[in-house]
Amino acid sequence: MAVLGPGGVGGLLAALLTRAGSSVVVLAGDSTSRVISERGLRVESRLFGNFEVNVETATRLQSEVDVCLITVKATQLERALERVPADVAGQALVIPFLNGIDHVDLLRTRFRTTVVPATIRVEVARVGPGLIRQTSPFASVEIATSDMVRERIEPLAAQLRTTGLEVTLREDEVAMLWDKLALLGPLALLTTHQRGNVGVVRTIRRDDAIALIGEVAAVARAEGASADPEAALRLLDLAPETMESSMQRDQAAGQPLELDAIGGAVLRHAAAQGVPVPVTTRLVDELQARERARTER
Ligand SMILES: NC(=O)c1ccc[n+]([C@@H]2O[C@H](COP(=O)([O-])OP(=O)(O)OC[C@H]3O[C@@H](n4cnc5c(N)ncnc54)[C@H](OP(=O)(O)O)[C@@H]3O)[C@@H](O)[C@H]2O)c1
Repeated sequence: MAVLGPGGVGGLLAALLTRAGSSVVVLAGDSTSRVISERGLRVESRLFGNFEVNVETATRLQSEVDVCLITVKATQLERALERVPADVAGQALVIPFLNGIDHVDLLRTRFRTTVVPATIRVEVARVGPGLIRQTSPFASVEIATSDMVRERIEPLAAQLRTTGLEVTLREDEVAMLWDKLALLGPLALLTTHQRGNVGVVRTIRRDDAIALIGEVAAVARAEGASADPEAALRLLDLAPETMESSMQRDQAAGQPLELDAIGGAVLRHAAAQGVPVPVTTRLVDELQARERARTER
């Protein structure tokens, strides 16, 4: 198995799979690749304990694998894919864990292999090259399945379960992706816009939170998902007060934001479905202006 992008999500998955006995090659840039090949991956995890594993690294996929997990950020995807030549990937299952929706079509135009989207609910960060810190009291994965891929996905799900991850297979790919975006989208946009954690935004930005959740749910429903805005709001209210979003952390670190993949995707799909999303539009516009100011500095 290959893992493209050994950051928070990719580093955690690569380390857990390696510890459980799977053969994994991590695909990364020169310097990260060098550090991981010298020191291995180190995980500090609330759920999985602290551990280190040695793992094979490469800067480019050299030979066909059964599965390639894609765990870079949306802003890094196109460049990172140069490390996975389609002819070398062959018949590999390509499984993206990115947040958002539109990366799936991008991958499907690139690979003649089977692209099977997945989502992950976890809080995990790349603290340094090969150093991964997992902080959430949960870590669960959903993977799309269908008659076409079932025979290959079920063994993969079993392999992931042996690591201690909760794994669910879903027949409804589009609904699966929207289910993740239904809460994550509003949460990411609001925490980033407010520069505040969940506790802050669900109190002082509550009207915007309710509006955003309602708008994203309306788009999701227009695309065939059965989004429930009240359930999303309950989850927001149950989330730990100190929880932050990775978009908010990227903003604080001066890194590019997955704004197009998350907010932009909601706007594109809303426009295609004729669903009005005024609050989402306002927040995305204001965050885009902030991004422009950052990159022009
Ligand atoms: N973190 C979370 O808690 C979480 C939870 C759910 C979903 N997600 C989603 O999962 C995706 C990945 O997020 P993340 O937080 O894991 O990101 P991340 O920690 O920033 O990791 C991205 C990794 O990709 C690598 N990378 C970047 N450009 C590359 C290139 N050209 N070639 C090879 N590797 C490259 C980076 O390498 P370097 O190490 O060299 O920088 C880094 O290891 C995002 O879509 C995010 O929204 C994240």
